[in-house]
Amino acid sequence: MKVSNRQLPPGLGRYLAFNPEDIKENPLGFYRRMWQEYGDLVRLPILPNYCMYLVAHPNYIEHILSTHQERYSKPDLFKKPMNMMAGESILTSEGDFWLKHRRLMQPAFHMKHLANLAIAMVSCTESLVQEWDKKSDGEIIDIASETLRLTLKIAGLTLFSTDISDDSSSLGKAFRTGFEFVNYKMNNLVTPPLWFPTLRNLDFRQSKQTLDNLVQEIIDSRRQNSVDSPDLLSMLMAARDEETGEGMSDEQLKNEAITLLIAGHETVASALSWTWYLLGQNPEIAANMQDELGKVLNGSNPTFDKLPQLDYTRRVFEETLRLYPPAWALPRVSLEDDEMEGYFIPKGTIVTLAKFITHRHPEFWENPDEFNPDNFLSEKVNQRPKFAYFPFGGGQRICIGKSFALMEATIIMAIVSQHFKLELVNNHPVEIDPRFTLRPKYGIKVKLWKRS
Ligand code: HEM
Repeated sequence: MKVSNRQLPPGLGRYLAFNPEDIKENPLGFYRRMWQEYGDLVRLPILPNYCMYLVAHPNYIEHILSTHQERYSKPDLFKKPMNMMAGESILTSEGDFWLKHRRLMQPAFHMKHLANLAIAMVSCTESLVQEWDKKSDGEIIDIASETLRLTLKIAGLTLFSTDISDDSSSLGKAFRTGFEFVNYKMNNLVTPPLWFPTLRNLDFRQSKQTLDNLVQEIIDSRRQNSVDSPDLLSMLMAARDEETGEGMSDEQLKNEAITLLIAGHETVASALSWTWYLLGQNPEIAANMQDELGKVLNGSNPTFDKLPQLDYTRRVFEETLRLYPPAWALPRVSLEDDEMEGYFIPKGTIVTLAKFITHRHPEFWENPDEFNPDNFLSEKVNQRPKFAYFPFGGGQRICIGKSFALMEATIIMAIVSQHFKLELVNNHPVEIDPRFTLRPKYGIKVKLWKRS
C-alpha cells in the first residue's frame, strides 16, 4: 500500500529502551505500563528496523483482524513452535492452503454436528462428578488441574473417540510433553535449536515421534475398518473440497488432529478455572446462576436443546473470557507498509493485539475490573464497538471452535454446579501465569461441598 503519512505512534524513542526480560517475566504488567504511559497504540523498537506495536483500541483491532486483514499474517515466532508440534495446519498456515483447510474443516463445527459431540461432553463431565462424589465433604481439590484433565478427555473423545486424559495413555503423555515444549519455545525467544541434543529437545523429539505414530495408527485403523464414529476425525476424513473433490492426506489429517488438541483443550480449561474463581468471589452471581440452572434443568443434565435457555450461565462464561481471556494477546506481522488512523506501520512490524487491555479498557467498559455478567445483555453488547471484546479473535481467522467451546463450557458449568458448591480455599495464592493461555500459576484450590 502507498502510505502518505509516515507519522509514528507514541512509544519508546530508541531500540531496546526496555529490558526484554520484563516482557518475559511479566508481560501483562509491562504491556499495561506501556499502555498507561503512551496510549492505545504504542511503538516499542526492539532492534534497528525491527519494531513491535502494542495495540489496544477496538478500531485498530478491527483494522488488523478484519477490515485490512490481508495486510497482516501470523508471525514466525508463533508459527514455528506450533509447526514443530503439529506441522503446517489451519492454525499456522496462510493463503490458499489455509483457505482450503478452513473450508474442509468448517462443516465439522456446524451446530448440527456439535449436537452429537454434546453427548460425549455430558458423559465425560458426569464421570468426573461421580469421581468427586466419592470424596468426603469439604475435601480440597485443585479445580484448575481437574478441569484440564476433563477438557483433555473431552478433546480426545470428541476428536477421535479415545480417552487420552488418563496417566496410562501414551498418546496423552506424548501430547502433554509436546505441548509444554511449545509453551517453552513461545515464552523464550532464544533457545537451543531442535537438533541440539539437550534433554528437553530429546524428550520433545521422542514425544513428537510417539504422538505422530499413535495418531497415524488411529487414522490407519479408521481407514481399514471404515466404522462410522460420531467424532471430528470421521468428519475430517469424509470432508471433500467442493471444487476438486479432494480430501485431506494422512499427513494433513494428523496435523489437523494434533492442532485441534492444542487449540481446544487448555483454552477451555483455563477459562473454566477462572470461572470457578470468579464465582467463588461473587456469591450473588453464583446464586443467580444456580437459580437459572434449577429453573431450566431442575437437577437433570443439560441437553443440546436446553442450552440456549442457559442464558445467564453463558453470560457468566462470556464475562470470564473478558476478564481472563485464554488467548490473552494475538500476534501479527505487517506484510506491507500500512497506515492506521494516521499512524504509519512499516512492513515487518510485529503487532501485538493486547486483548487483556482492550477487554478492561475504561472507555468501553463500566467498572472494567468488576465481574458483571450483565455486560453481555444484548442492549449492552450493542452499545460497544465490535472489537472491544474478541476472546475468539475475529475476521476470517476467527476461532473455528468458538461454538464448540461455548457449548462445552456451559455443559460443564451446568453439571458441576448442580452437584457441587465450590468454595475457594482462603489464603491460597492465585496468580496469573501468561503462557499459551492464562494459566493460574499455583492452580485454584477449592473445597468441594455436595449439594443435596
Ligand atoms: C475458550 C476457548 C477458546 C478460545 C478463547 C479460543 C481462542 C481462539 C483465538 C483467539 C483464535 C484466533 C487466533 C488468531 O487469530 O491469531 C483461535 C483460533 C483457532 N481455534 Fe480457538 N479458542 C478456543 C477454543 C477452541 C476449541 C475448542 C477449538 C477446537 C476444538 C479451537 C480451535 C481453533 C482453531 C483450529 C483455530 C485456528 C482457526 C483459523 O486460523 O482458521 N479453539 N482460537
